[in-house]
Amino acid sequence: MNVFRLGLFLLITTVVSAQVPLQPLNAAVLRGSKARFNCSTTQPPSVMTWTVNGRLVITILEASGVLNSTDRFSATNFTTPGDYRWELVISNVQRDDAGEVTCQVLGGAPRIATLSVQERGSVGIIGGNQTKTEGAQTEFQCRAVGWFPEPSVSWSVNGVAYSCNTSSVTQGNLFNSNCTLAVTAVKNSYVQCLVKIPALSTPDSSTVFLTVEKLAKIDQTVLIAVTVAFSAAALLFLIIYGIVFFCKRRKKKSSYQEELRRARIQSQNRTPATENVRGRDNRGYRDRHDGHTNGVWHTNHSNKHQMPDGFFDGHRNHTHMTTV
Ligand SMILES: *[C@@H]1O[C@H](CO)[C@@H](O)[C@H](O)[C@H]1NC(C)=O
Ligand SMILES: *[C@@H]1O[C@H](CO)[C@@H](O)[C@H](O)[C@H]1NC(C)=O
Ligand SMILES: *[C@@H]1O[C@H](CO)[C@@H](O)[C@H](O)[C@H]1NC(C)=O
Ligand SMILES: *[C@@H]1O[C@H](CO)[C@@H](O)[C@H](O)[C@H]1NC(C)=O
Ligand SMILES: *[C@@H]1O[C@H](CO)[C@@H](O)[C@H](O)[C@H]1NC(C)=O
Ligand SMILES: *[C@@H]1O[C@H](CO)[C@@H](O)[C@H](O)[C@H]1NC(C)=O
Repeated sequence: MNVFRLGLFLLITTVVSAQVPLQPLNAAVLRGSKARFNCSTTQPPSVMTWTVNGRLVITILEASGVLNSTDRFSATNFTTPGDYRWELVISNVQRDDAGEVTCQVLGGAPRIATLSVQERGSVGIIGGNQTKTEGAQTEFQCRAVGWFPEPSVSWSVNGVAYSCNTSSVTQGNLFNSNCTLAVTAVKNSYVQCLVKIPALSTPDSSTVFLTVEKLAKIDQTVLIAVTVAFSAAALLFLIIYGIVFFCKRRKKKSSYQEELRRARIQSQNRTPATENVRGRDNRGYRDRHDGHTNGVWHTNHSNKHQMPDGFFDGHRNHTHMTTV
């Protein structure tokens, strides 16, 4: 009897369970977004209840429709002939909504789905863009901060996936993850850090650029350029210097010669010139007095110490001479 009852119960439960599929059985959503679950039966349910972590949030009566609907918990009728289906919508999902979401129809076993509420944090590559010389060992560090659950971090270099050495710490109920990529600088590349959690259909990413300098080639080019420029400059300088020097020397030489020539001429004229000056002085002196004498300087000059001179200026001349 008991065995029969148990068998009947199992049969009914199986049948009912089969009739109350819950979709999806696992949901991962970002906190603040919406979570949706479908519950359907092949028999019209007189009562359908939805609970979240044991808390009754929605009651649906066949006769009167949805009860206890709030702005966070609502239900939508998707019933089609032969498929009595209701969708639970949880809006602005909170971390404490995470756990079990249960749909139960009167007379049926509860169906349980799991809700995971996740947190989207930030992703960044420390140091940003890098410039390296060819062949240099290069490290990139990606930091994913404030994620839940622990994110899966990976690298992509020019679209090629690279393994990641992740280390994570929890901060409150969030994860901070570091991931280091060590590569050899070969060519200009874009380096992307990808951070993924189930709630994200596409991973979040951060991209930086690795600029590779071909050291040898650059150096040669620079060296050649510098050498050529320097040689040209030196040559130009030499030419200019040479020209200037030549001109100066020539000028100097000519002026020197000119000076020499002038000096020679001067020295030739010097003796008579000085005598002339002296003579003129005397002459002038004489001339002044010649005016008084009305004589010709020549006469006076030749007769310097002659009477007329002495006669007019004897005492003055004498005084003058003694003072000098
Ligand atoms: C529930 O079912 C309806 C109708 O088939 C569909 O439009 C909706 O996307 C489903 N929702 C979920 C969460 O599967
Ligand atoms: C759900 O929708 C179906 C089909 O549109 C309708 O027949 C049924 O009355 C609705 N149920 C409630 C409770 O509104
Ligand atoms: C749901 O609504 C029914 C009827 O309005 C009420 O009796 C019940 O207490 C409500 N349940 C919750 C959890 O608010
Ligand atoms: C890195 O380089 C790219 C292009 O070269 C530029 O758009 C971007 O702003 C740079 N990022 C940083 C952080 O400097
Ligand atoms: C990961 O990092 C740890 C510590 O920095 C190091 O000991 C280990 O060898 C690294 N593993 C790989 C695969 O790079
Ligand atoms: C990540 O790196 C930073 C510095 O680079 C360090 O302060 C932090 O502790 C690291 N976090 C983890 C989880 O290794």
